Amino acid sequence: MTPPRFEPVRRAFEPDAVGTRVRLHGWVLRTRSSGGILFIVLRDRTGSVQVTGRRDALGDAPFEAAEHVQVEGAIEVEGTIAADPRAPGGREVRAQAIGVIDPGAPFPIFADQTEEFLLDQRHLAIRSQEFVATFRIKAETLRALRDFMEQDDVLEVTPPILTGNAAEGGAEAFAFDYFGRPGYLGQTAQLYLEAMIAPHERVYALTPSFRAEKSRTNRHLTEYQHLEVELAWCDFAGLLDFVERMFAFVCHRLAERCAKDLESIGRPPAELAAISTPFPRMTYAAAIDRLRAEGFPVEWGSDLGTAEERALTVADRRPLFVTHYPRAIKAFYMLQSADDPRTVDAADLLGPEGYGELVGASCRETRIDRLEERLRQVGADPATYDWYLDLRRHGNVPHAGFGIGIERFLRWALRREHIRDTTPFPRTPSRHTP
Ligand code: 4AD
Repeated sequence: MTPPRFEPVRRAFEPDAVGTRVRLHGWVLRTRSSGGILFIVLRDRTGSVQVTGRRDALGDAPFEAAEHVQVEGAIEVEGTIAADPRAPGGREVRAQAIGVIDPGAPFPIFADQTEEFLLDQRHLAIRSQEFVATFRIKAETLRALRDFMEQDDVLEVTPPILTGNAAEGGAEAFAFDYFGRPGYLGQTAQLYLEAMIAPHERVYALTPSFRAEKSRTNRHLTEYQHLEVELAWCDFAGLLDFVERMFAFVCHRLAERCAKDLESIGRPPAELAAISTPFPRMTYAAAIDRLRAEGFPVEWGSDLGTAEERALTVADRRPLFVTHYPRAIKAFYMLQSADDPRTVDAADLLGPEGYGELVGASCRETRIDRLEERLRQVGADPATYDWYLDLRRHGNVPHAGFGIGIERFLRWALRREHIRDTTPFPRTPSRHTP
């Protein structure tokens, strides 16, 4: 007779499971033995269950082999599911046989270790319950974003990562030698998305973006997942409307599908379900006035740093659009405002509860002379952007777009102190291993 196939651990908790025989395999969360009985907590991707094994049922040698399996060692179990009020979740698996797949070396991670040590051990630390929940929520976030794009008729496209232009400022681009010419790791796919709206009108891309920012803050990574959207025929009002609908859609989806994981991480799903549109809007000028009234030493023209952004939403449960930033502190491609030449039609979406910028959005400048002027002002040679300027020569239409940093979004959605805890292998100025 062929042995029954392996079942997921969650099977043990199904209503009809008691009395059935199962085969399970997975990793050992913890183990102890007393008086000829072995207690193992076994986990797989679906949960964890207590396994008990008696020396007289397993036999001396298999019992002793199982007894020596370390935390995070791997085993397979054949046994019968029983109800037992003393076991976590009220069920246990009474083993007839336990096979050791890998007894494992002593697991180096345990309670109260330093953050640095845990980052060095990240390849193992990602097995924790908290990270498991985090990356399930991250996957659902990406799925929700893709579903929203499909529903809104936006086409997914695949821009390059290796590029010859630094679009968001040369100083923050990772530069390398591309067969004797300057090459850069992409900071944004935007310029390529702008090229792709002529054939497709509404496009998006999900790519890693790279920023050589030395800033060691709790909201900067040097590599992050970037979802960017570019929409032809879109004006500023349409842009903000798209961003807020997308944002609310993802929040509601997470509340609906990831309630347990959210709760386990410390974000009540009801708080995400409560996110509703429209989001409030505030001009940059009004933000400066408010910050000055609160005692911040800022003036019109200052960039808003972490502390300023935090102050603007720290008491709010809703995201806030800050609009119409000074042209001089924003990227070269943003559209100069029609009613004020000093500003651009751009908005940053600040996360609720003081989490700062989650989305950067703008209408794009369509006039070649203004683009060239801004490129020169930021120290770039317009000639190296000739292909981009060409887009303004052939069917140049009004358009707008934005980028959302997935880890920035999750930092807020999961209430994390540090952005690195929203990505399995964080890249920061001081770390690119493991
Ligand atoms: O505001 P940014 O720099 O805008 C752009 O790159 C535009 N070209 C996007 C577009 O319009 N297509 O970056 C967009 C978002 C930010 O709002 C933030 O969420 C995230 O990317 N981001 C970072 N996330 C993690 N670490 C960093 N160092 C980040 N820099 C930006």
